[in-house]
This record gives sequence, structure tokens and C-alpha cells, in this order.
Amino acid sequence: MAKFQSSLFLCLMAVSLACFTPSESAAFSLKLIPRFSPESPLYPGNLSQSERIQKMVEISHARANYLVSRNPTTVDPENIHLPVHEASAFYSAELSVGTPQISQYLLIDGGSGLIWTQCLPCINCFNQILPLYNSTDSATYQKIPCTDPRCRKPLCKCVDGNCVYRQLYGGGAVTKGILSTETFTFANNKDGVLPVPNMMFGCSNDNLDFTFRGRKISGILGLNTAPESLITQLKSTIQGRFSYCLVYGYREMEATSILRFGEDTVSIRNDYKTTPLMYRDLTTYYYLNLLDISVGDRRIGFPAGTFDLKPSTGDGGCVIDTGAMATFIDRGPYEKVMGAFDEHFTSFGLERVHKEVGLEYCYKNNPKFRPYLAMTFHFEGADFKVEPTYMYFHYEAKGYFCVALMPYAGKTLLGAWQQQDMRVVYDLNLGVVRFAPENCANDKF
Ligand SMILES: *[C@@H]1O[C@H](CO)[C@@H](O)[C@H](O)[C@H]1NC(C)=O
Ligand SMILES: *[C@@H]1O[C@H](CO)[C@@H](O)[C@H](O)[C@H]1NC(C)=O
Repeated sequence: MAKFQSSLFLCLMAVSLACFTPSESAAFSLKLIPRFSPESPLYPGNLSQSERIQKMVEISHARANYLVSRNPTTVDPENIHLPVHEASAFYSAELSVGTPQISQYLLIDGGSGLIWTQCLPCINCFNQILPLYNSTDSATYQKIPCTDPRCRKPLCKCVDGNCVYRQLYGGGAVTKGILSTETFTFANNKDGVLPVPNMMFGCSNDNLDFTFRGRKISGILGLNTAPESLITQLKSTIQGRFSYCLVYGYREMEATSILRFGEDTVSIRNDYKTTPLMYRDLTTYYYLNLLDISVGDRRIGFPAGTFDLKPSTGDGGCVIDTGAMATFIDRGPYEKVMGAFDEHFTSFGLERVHKEVGLEYCYKNNPKFRPYLAMTFHFEGADFKVEPTYMYFHYEAKGYFCVALMPYAGKTLLGAWQQQDMRVVYDLNLGVVRFAPENCANDKF
């Protein structure tokens, strides 16, 4: 009863805001802040175009290592060795935690589930520029009891009556703390802000070996499909739906994109294509069923099963992700795809150059050259066509361009560069991903 009264009281205090209960449907959005935005907590300074491309290649590699190093059939966090997070995420987001609201910048991570922020009193906290969240100062903070089903193994165990989680990331980074609930406040189109009470999150007071110390980043926002992720916690509230539309361009990459949830997701037009999400009982990633690839109009004709996930090893499969910029193709099929690109460019007399680390197929620019090739991912029931604009990295000052594809042993990963100017809608209730081209620069709050 006391709890009911206090939440009623908070709603009355926030009378001009949406008074939200988790059973209602809701609309809200998060601003996706790219690395190259001066607003980003991980802003690397005003890099030149080729420095930006190099950074995107590095981030893509770190990201691929991060995703591939997780065996989808293993849930024991002790067995998971992931590369350090900072390098492997391109977007961060700002939201508020607690009552009164404390602003937090979290790395967006589609590869993990837990939402956590550094939390006083600290045993070990890395330096952060923004004030640390102090759980004892917040009127809406509560610990999750050990008896709560959300206090689940292997992520959590009961220590001295507290539900304590331990989440390992790569490079030995580890966060520990008390599994708790709190009011999270998101931006909302209609009312300005949407407070969501009782979000499960990690009050992380023991954080070791994270590389983003000294910045505004205070934690990680997990968007995969694990029970503790933002998506799963709010699944009924957002009707299982979220979407993004990534703004195109090198300079323009400073611009923020919007991650939309629930009724904010946009309405589905009839030109949307629909493809199923795969392996949902095996993994917490967003796998699609890739059947074949075309380079220009030439369909490669990969045998059935080429891109299937092999659950015994965790190899194979095609993940859709926004953490990697470039797209990775499993090494075997990659050679065939690149062969088709190479044949095309050399048939026009373009000279291949070997300059950029991580990108293998680069060609000297000819200002008169026009027939850049598109590429199509033939997903089950849906062709994802990547127009030439989104297929290459152009090193304008250096006079050459590279195909923005990289090889990876064992997995295919559709990255953010190839998803620019495409509305991508995830519908977990229907178990599908839908997409259609859109000018993402027009997507505003
Ligand atoms: C970055 O540099 C470019 C030119 O080198 C300039 O046009 C732009 O305004 C700079 N941006 C910032 C945020 O300083
Ligand atoms: C956290 O807030 C409590 C209550 O206001 C205060 O007593 C405590 O000193 C704060 N902790 C830190 C480390 O600032």
C-alpha cells in the first residue's frame, strides 16, 4: 500500500508528464549520438574524412570480435571473453535515471542485455565527467530481492541478501553491482518526457578495466533480447517494436539518429519488406536468414545453407547490427563477392590500390567513373538493396575508394554503413524485421 501511494504521489507531482504504468502502451525515443558528433562522450576530435573512415574500420573490427567471441549456445558469463566495449560501439544515448533525474550517457550495445550505470557508494568506479548516480539520493531506487525471479543465474547470485550481478566484457573488463529498479526517463514526442518506473538495471559499484574513463560515459544500455535488456523489459509496453533510420554521410555522421520505440516506431507502409528473425531460442542477437547475395545485377548463387548458423560451434549466421560500421562477410563467401566487385572495376580499367588497413578492395578514383555497383542481400522473403552511395568508403583527398566490406572468419554482419537511409523496424511479437528506404535526415524528434 505504501508503495502504491508513493508511486501515485510521484505521478501527481509529475502531473504535466505522461503518468505511465507498464501495462499501457507507450511511445518514446532515444537520440543515437554517433562517435563523430562533438556531443558524443567518445568524440575523437574533428577528424578528416580518411581518419573517420579509418576509425570506422577499427570500430567495425572491434565490434566483429565482440559479437563473434560469444558462443550463442553458452550462457555462462564466466566463459564469455569479449573485447573492451569502448572500441566496439558507435552510438551512445543520453537518458535520465532516478528521482530527481540524473542525466546519464550510456553506450548503446545491441550485443548485450544488461543496463547499468556507475552507482555510489563505489568500491571501484572509473572517472566520469558527469556526477555519479547516488542510489541513496533517489526516491525511486529499490533493490531487487534475491527471491525475485529476475535475480537469475548465471548473471546474478545472492550475496549478503543482495542480488549481485557480475557481467564480464572483453579485455577483462568487468562490472559488478546490485540488481535494482529505478525510474528511467526517456524523451517522448507527445509529452516531452516519459518516466518509466521499475526499470531493472545494474547499480554498478565495482567496475574494472573499462577504457572509457574520464568521459561522460557512465555505463552500457543493452538492447539484445536477453531478459534484462531494455527491449525485453519493455516488450509489452512497446508492443515488441523499435526502429531506427541512420543518417547518411561522413560529415553528416555528426548528426544524431533516432531510436524509436513502441508507438513512436513509424507506421508500416506497403513498400516495406519483411524477413523473419532467426534462432531466437538459441541466441540473444538479431539474426536474419541470408540466402544469397547479388553484386550489381549478378546473383552469386550461394548454395543453400551457406549463411546458416551452426549452433554446435556458434559459427555462421548473419547478424544485423549497428555497432559495426562496415559489413563483414564470412571469409569463404566474401572471396566470391569481392571477385565480382573486382571483375567489374578492373573491366573499367580502374587500378587496384593496397592502402588501407582492414579494407582489401580499393581502387584509384577516376573522376569520370560512374558505374559504381549496388549490392543486394537476399534475405528470406526480402531483398535488402544497398545502393552504391552506401557501398563504398571514398577517400576523396587521397583519390581512391574502397568497397566497405571486410572478411570475417565464421560470421556475416550487416553493419551500419550499409543500413544508412533505410528505416529498419524490429517487430519481436511477429518475429520479423522490416525495412524500406527513407531519407533519414528528415527523421526528427
Ligand atoms: C571540422 O573541420 C571542418 C573542416 O576541416 C570544418 O568545416 C568543421 O566546421 C569542423 N567541425 C567542428 C565541429 O569543429
Ligand atoms: C549519497 O547520498 C547520501 C544521501 O544524500 C549521502 O549521505 C552520501 O554522502 C552520498 N554519497 C556520496 C559518496 O556522495
